[in-house]
Amino acid sequence: MSADFTALFTPFELAGKPLRNRITHASMSLLVTPGGRVTDRMIQYHANRAAGGAAMTITEPLGMMRHQSGLPRVQVWRRDDADGLKRFADAVESRDCRLLGQIQDAGRGRHFPGRNPEAIGASALPDDLSWTVPRALTEAEIRDLIAQIAEAAAHLKDCGFSGVEISAGHGHMFHQFLSPWSNRRDDAYGGDWERRTRIVAELVEALRSACGADFIVGLKLPGDDGIRGGIGPAEAAIVADVLTRRRNVDYVSFAGGAHARTLEMHTPDRFGPAMPYMPFIRQLRHALNGVPLMALGRITDPAEADGILARKEASLIALGRPLVADPAWPRKAGTGRSWDIRYCLSCNTCWGAIVTMHVPIACVNNPRVGRSDEVDYEPPRTAMPKRVVVVGAGIAGMEAAWVAAARGHDVTVFGASGNIGGKAWLREKLPGGETVSSIYDYQTVAARRAGARIVLGQVVSAEHIIGLRPDTVILATGSTMIPPDWLPETVRQDGWVADLRSAMVEVLRHDGRQPGTAVLFDTDHTEGTYAAAEGLRMRFQRVVIVTPRDTIAADVPLVTRQGILRRMAEQRIEVVTLSEPRWSDACADGRLELVNVYNGDVRVIDDVALLTYATPRVPDDALVAPLRDAGITVIPVGDARAPQEMLFATASGHAAGESV
Ligand SMILES: Cc1cc2nc3c(=O)[nH]c(=O)nc-3n(C[C@H](O)[C@H](O)[C@H](O)COP(=O)(O)O)c2cc1C
Repeated sequence: MSADFTALFTPFELAGKPLRNRITHASMSLLVTPGGRVTDRMIQYHANRAAGGAAMTITEPLGMMRHQSGLPRVQVWRRDDADGLKRFADAVESRDCRLLGQIQDAGRGRHFPGRNPEAIGASALPDDLSWTVPRALTEAEIRDLIAQIAEAAAHLKDCGFSGVEISAGHGHMFHQFLSPWSNRRDDAYGGDWERRTRIVAELVEALRSACGADFIVGLKLPGDDGIRGGIGPAEAAIVADVLTRRRNVDYVSFAGGAHARTLEMHTPDRFGPAMPYMPFIRQLRHALNGVPLMALGRITDPAEADGILARKEASLIALGRPLVADPAWPRKAGTGRSWDIRYCLSCNTCWGAIVTMHVPIACVNNPRVGRSDEVDYEPPRTAMPKRVVVVGAGIAGMEAAWVAAARGHDVTVFGASGNIGGKAWLREKLPGGETVSSIYDYQTVAARRAGARIVLGQVVSAEHIIGLRPDTVILATGSTMIPPDWLPETVRQDGWVADLRSAMVEVLRHDGRQPGTAVLFDTDHTEGTYAAAEGLRMRFQRVVIVTPRDTIAADVPLVTRQGILRRMAEQRIEVVTLSEPRWSDACADGRLELVNVYNGDVRVIDDVALLTYATPRVPDDALVAPLRDAGITVIPVGDARAPQEMLFATASGHAAGESV
C-alpha cells in the first residue's frame, strides 16, 4: 500500500505484534449475535474492516463474565464456541489485522425505558438516565469478576486473538468505579484515586498473568465525562497516570460522556466540531508515562488523522463510525483515493439502529454494511443492459442511478429542481447539515463516472417518460406532508402558512431577523424538524414548537435527542407539548390558540408571523399507474415508496440499482 499520508501509514508495534499502519477500528456494537455465539455476520463485518486496510479492530463487548449470559454477546466465558472464535480470529488476523476482544459491563447504565434489576456496580446510586440503582459488589465479588475475565481472555488468546481492550470509559461499570460521582465506597475499591482505580489496575495485572506480555491490553478511559463531581480532564490525568505507571498496558484511548445528560458526548454528532476530543487528548497525552495514546472521536478524514500523528499528538488513530461508513477508508487513503471515501456523516443512524430499532448496525452512507462484497464495492456488470430512467435526483434516486449505471445500464436521471440531493440538499443548508452533502456528492461522482446522464430542472410527465421507451423506471419522486386536520384548506399555502419544507426554502432565501413568532406544529418528531426549528430561530424573534405528544424528538435516538433538547433549550426555542392549534378568524391577525389535547386549556400566541407544520407524509407516486399501464416496470424508492428517514432512501435506492 503506497502511503499518501506518511504518518498514518507508518507501521507500529504493540506487545511485540506488528501493526501495518496506525489505524484501528474502534469497538462498535453490531447486534448480530442474538444467540450468544460467533456468527458469520460478525466475522464478515470485521474481516471487511481488515480487508479494507485497518491494522487492528476491536470487537464489541464480549460475554467475559458469567452474569452476562443473558446478553446478546458472544459468551466467551462458556468456552463452548472455540471453533467460532478461531474462525473469527483467523478471518481477521490472516488479513494482517490484529483482533482485540472488548471487556465491558454496563453496570447501572441503561439507554432504554425501565430499570435493570440485574445491574451491579460500585455503589448503590442511580444512573442519571434510567435511574437504575445497581447492587454494590463486595470485594470478594470484584476479585471473582477479575478472575473470570482473565480466564475468558486467556481463552481468546488460545483462539488466536491478539489482545483485549478494557472499556473503562463511556460511563460503564469500570468508569463508575473510577468516578467519585458514582463510587462512594470506603473499602479497597473506593475512597481515593488509588483505590477507585484499583479494580482496573488489578484487572490489567490479572490479564497479564493469564495472557503474558505478548498479548495486547488496551484501555479506553474517560477523558471528560461532563459530569460535575465526575471525571473531567484534570481527574482523567490522575486516573491515566495511576493506571499507566506500571507500563503494563499497551495503549490508552480517551472517550467522552457518561450515562447521564452527557451521553451524547459518547458519539459526538455533526452539530459539534470535528475531532471534539482532541482538546482533552492533547492535555492528557503527557499523563501516560510513555504508554502509546490512541486518538479517537469524530476523526473522519485521512488528513485530520495524519495531522494528529504528524504533530505527535497521538501514536494511533481509532475510527469508529468512519469505518462503518466505509471499510475501505484506509485502503483509499493509502492509495491516493481519499476523494472516493464514503464519509461518515456523524448522524448516529448506526446508534439508532442498534439501540433504538434493535436491528443490526446500519449506515446511511453504506447500504452494504457487513456484506461479503462490501469493501470497495463495485456493482457487478449486467449481462442484459437496459434503458433505465430515474425520476428524482434526491439521495434515493441518485443511489439507484450510480449503482445501475455502474452495472452497465443506460441511465438517465431527471431532477425537478436545479440541484442534486432533493430534501437532503435542503437539510444540508440547515444547522448540523454540512456533512449531508457527502451522500449526494459521492453518488454524483459515481453516477457520472459510470456514464449516467443527469438532467436537472425538468419535471417529466408520464408521456415524456413513455416516449423515452425505458425498460425500467426508478421512481424517486419523494413525498408530501399531509396538512393537519385543524388547518382549513383555504389557507394551506397562504404565504404565512406552509409545510415546513416549503417554509424553509423561503426562509433560506432571506437574510435578517423578522419580528413575531414562528409556530411549528410537529407530528414528525425526526431530526430534520429540529434543525429547521434552529433555522427558524435565526430568522424569527421567537419560535414555538407545538406537539400533541408529551415530548419532542420522540422518534430520534437518545444520543441525538439529548443534543436536540439541549439546543432547543439553549436557543430558547419554546416547546408546548400535549397541544394542537385551533383555527379561528383571529388567525388572520396573527392570533393562534393552542389547545391542550386532554383538558382543553388554551394558551394564546398573538404575534404569529409564520405557521408551519411538519407532519406525516404521503408518497408522490402519481406516475406509477400510467407508467405501469404502459407496460413499464416501475420501482418506487425512498419516500416515493414509503416516507421514512435517509437510511431507507439510500438503502432502497441501492437495492433498486442492484435489482434492475
Ligand atoms: C453504533 C455505535 C456503537 C458503539 N458501540 C461501542 C461499544 O460496544 N463499545 C465501545 O467501547 N464503544 C462503542 N461505541 C463508541 C465508539 O467506539 C467510539 O468511541 C465513538 O463512536 C467515537 O468514535 P467515532 O467518532 O470514530 O465513531 C459505539 C458507537 C456507536 C456509534
